[in-house]
Amino acid sequence: MGLVQLSAIIFTVIAFLGSSTQAQPEAKFKCSTTNATCHALIDYKNPNATTLRYIQTLFNVKHLQDILGANNFPTNTTGNYSVGPNEAIKVPFPCKCNNGTGLSNLVPLYTIKAGDGLYDIATTTFAGLVKYPQIQVANNISDPNKIITGHKLWIPLPCSCDEVGGESVVHYGHLVESGNSVEGIADKYGTTQQVLLTLNGISDPKTLQAGQVLDVPLKACSSSVRNDSLDFPLLVANATYIYTANNCVKCKCDSSNNYILQCEPSSQFKPTKWSTCPSTQCSSNLFIGNIKSTDSCNSTTCDYAGYTSKNISTVLATHSTCAAAAPSGSDPGSGASRSTLQGWVWSNLFIVIHFILFSVYLF
Ligand SMILES: *[C@@H]1O[C@H](CO)[C@@H](O)[C@H](O)[C@H]1NC(C)=O
Ligand SMILES: *[C@@H]1O[C@H](CO)[C@@H](O)[C@H](O)[C@H]1NC(C)=O
Ligand SMILES: *[C@@H]1O[C@H](CO)[C@@H](O)[C@H](O)[C@H]1NC(C)=O
Ligand SMILES: *[C@@H]1O[C@H](CO)[C@@H](O)[C@H](O)[C@H]1NC(C)=O
Ligand SMILES: *[C@@H]1O[C@H](CO)[C@@H](O)[C@H](O)[C@H]1NC(C)=O
Ligand SMILES: *[C@@H]1O[C@H](CO)[C@@H](O)[C@H](O)[C@H]1NC(C)=O
Ligand SMILES: *[C@@H]1O[C@H](CO)[C@@H](O)[C@H](O)[C@H]1NC(C)=O
Ligand SMILES: *[C@@H]1O[C@H](CO)[C@@H](O)[C@H](O)[C@H]1NC(C)=O
Ligand SMILES: *[C@@H]1O[C@H](CO)[C@@H](O)[C@H](O)[C@H]1NC(C)=O
Ligand SMILES: *[C@@H]1O[C@H](CO)[C@@H](O)[C@H](O)[C@H]1NC(C)=O
Repeated sequence: MGLVQLSAIIFTVIAFLGSSTQAQPEAKFKCSTTNATCHALIDYKNPNATTLRYIQTLFNVKHLQDILGANNFPTNTTGNYSVGPNEAIKVPFPCKCNNGTGLSNLVPLYTIKAGDGLYDIATTTFAGLVKYPQIQVANNISDPNKIITGHKLWIPLPCSCDEVGGESVVHYGHLVESGNSVEGIADKYGTTQQVLLTLNGISDPKTLQAGQVLDVPLKACSSSVRNDSLDFPLLVANATYIYTANNCVKCKCDSSNNYILQCEPSSQFKPTKWSTCPSTQCSSNLFIGNIKSTDSCNSTTCDYAGYTSKNISTVLATHSTCAAAAPSGSDPGSGASRSTLQGWVWSNLFIVIHFILFSVYLF
């Protein structure tokens, strides 16, 4: 018996065992606007201790600070930072919608090593975030036993650029842990069980399984970024930060300041593409992030408004500060988003369509 036949049999047996222990279907997120692009997040968990550098390389993340921001790690954390066994790290990546679903936009590219099989690449190297048939289809591989050492494989990660409940969100592929409930995950990430069920085409929350990749919409901050800016739409998820404008501006999103994006000039990292950062001023002595004036209910600030190949735009904007402080006890930001999200669920036909697609998928 030749080596090829032997490996074919082993592959089939492994694939069979794999399919019986991993009953959950491959993750496929709905993404309706063809060719829309955006940033998305996905969990990565390695059973062994590893480093941020390893994760950055595996997923082809351009700058380490993109991973630091997505996980809200201190900006001076280095690539040597050790990640504990099974510690979930959020990996940022570019997403593109095509034919109703979102996939990572031609990244990560994985170089096949001697002895690699598609099943192991999907299950072990990429921690089950994709199933091997998805890699096969994405790379137009007719025979999964014939992959060539040194060739690059596109690993298609699930993602979406869709709004949820009429609001811009960052879609986060959350790796379900054993013991997690849909409601628990919804609470943790500021959404509702109903939104998660609808978005993921789940009819019975009890069917949730460890290892499943759930589409979790994270609230994103509103910003003054112009639609002709190179980083439009600048969607920064709650409790994360990013560096933009070629590293010259740092923006963070959190529940303080009413979920309005807060940006400031940054000299933490060398600018990319520019030798020095262009002006980040609204006027003399008034820089991005500075407050010009405040009165009882409004605050006028110098906001980041985007960038071009040549310069950084700023705008003086007035934001209401009262809504943030008004009601006692509850958080008005998340309260408002919950009710609009719930309204959306009931009014949206996508439930029906998604269930049909989901059933077709099981066969
Ligand atoms: C999406 O992009 C592809 C390639 O650039 C193009 O051929 C196609 O027409 C675009 N589709 C839509 C709906 O814009
Ligand atoms: C990072 O900066 C903080 C203070 O901002 C400091 O306490 C910490 O030791 C620094 N860590 C490293 C690895 O330099
Ligand atoms: C990482 O650690 C190695 C040795 O442990 C050291 O040589 C290297 O400079 C460190 N890199 C960074 C970015 O801290
Ligand atoms: C688009 O999706 C439909 C069903 O989801 C499928 O039948 C069709 O083959 C897909 N088209 C392409 C070009 O992938
Ligand atoms: C974890 O370590 C084991 C033993 O060294 C190895 O077989 C396995 O491939 C490692 N897993 C990953 C994802 O690197
Ligand atoms: C996929 O591969 C087959 C042959 O294996 C080839 O005929 C076909 O054109 C390829 N399709 C794409 C989209 O590359
Ligand atoms: C934003 O993040 C904070 C801190 O993690 C959390 O307390 C808050 O509930 C989140 N808000 C929303 C709307 O997700
Ligand atoms: C961009 O914003 C301007 C107003 O700021 C608006 O007039 C224009 O239609 C917008 N363009 C697009 C493509 O949305
Ligand atoms: C505060 O903002 C509101 C709406 O943005 C506006 O109607 C009001 O006139 C502003 N008040 C002051 C004092 O600027
Ligand atoms: C920035 O550059 C654009 C074109 O690249 C130009 O229209 C605009 O006036 C510039 N803004 C500033 C503040 O220089």
